Amino acid sequence: MPTIRDVAKAAGVSVATVSRVINKNEYVNKDTEQKVLKVMKELDFKPSLVARGLAGKKMNTIALMLPDISNPFFPEVARAVEDVAQQYDHNLFLCNSDNLEHKEKSYLEIMKKKNIDGVIIISNNISSKDLEHLRETKIPVVLLDRPASHENYSVVRANNYKGAQLATMHLLEIGCRKIAHIAGPKNLITAKERLKGYNSITNEYPWFEQTLIAEGNFDVQGGKTALKKLLADHPDIDGIFASNDLMALGALKELKKMGKEVPQEVAICGFDGIYLTELSEPELTTIQQPIYELGAKAAEILIKKLRGELTETKIYELDVQLIKRESTNGFQNSRQDNTIIKGVFR
Ligand code: RIB
Repeated sequence: MPTIRDVAKAAGVSVATVSRVINKNEYVNKDTEQKVLKVMKELDFKPSLVARGLAGKKMNTIALMLPDISNPFFPEVARAVEDVAQQYDHNLFLCNSDNLEHKEKSYLEIMKKKNIDGVIIISNNISSKDLEHLRETKIPVVLLDRPASHENYSVVRANNYKGAQLATMHLLEIGCRKIAHIAGPKNLITAKERLKGYNSITNEYPWFEQTLIAEGNFDVQGGKTALKKLLADHPDIDGIFASNDLMALGALKELKKMGKEVPQEVAICGFDGIYLTELSEPELTTIQQPIYELGAKAAEILIKKLRGELTETKIYELDVQLIKRESTNGFQNSRQDNTIIKGVFR
């Protein structure tokens, strides 16, 4: 692996100059900077803490990278992460990536330059290469909620599959006889797991068909658009399970705009358990993720890694629970069929 000295020699400058280019903390002639950066790329040089002149200097700051600060799920996670960080005398560096890979990469570079001590990442884009680069610069990583794969890192997530089964079974148990699913983005592991959970129940029924699934983008508009499509294709839908609360709230708004009575004509269940679900009219039945616990657990694992108290990597899967509220309480099955309720839980 090339060292800072190799870079200095190849660029024809001093080690101190290379260190200044890495840390961007003092003036460097533009031509010299470009020459050093070119050599670093050619040698695939990865600045260690020593190269960054920061070995041993603790910043007592952890970072949380999240994909959508406007979705109340993530600020609730951030609240927990900051509480735990403060408990251990650490600050929080909050990064909103907008699910954009270039923003994620930019934030990872800033973390290295700012000597962030550790990072919690909520991302389905982050590559193994990017994660490996953090590891090489001795920045511990914990993945939260939606890791695509990355078996070398601890992961904290909710049991999405079981939560989806709970939601679907609940709609069946109150008498729904044609249940649709507003799925999250197909590239997200959380959305995929919930879709599988829904399918594991509905595949058992003769009424099920693929057009009972419409995809949204985990936001209110996505819920509205998906609902319109579903009811255009299947006007007799009487139950809806949405893969997150914002889409469920969008669908609820659209149902009322269509003049549909909720829950009397159509019952609806969301997923997450964000605070808005208590404020909607009717209040939304949902699958409660242990949002605060997810954030707190991820932060505790990261801090223990920083302190050398935890070296193992494992998946921490937290349980979810059905929160029954008005949007499913009072559904009136207008059909007289006696479909037997079947269902399997993993
Ligand atoms: O609402 C945002 C969604 O993205 C949540 O369900 C969370 O699990 C994440 O995947």
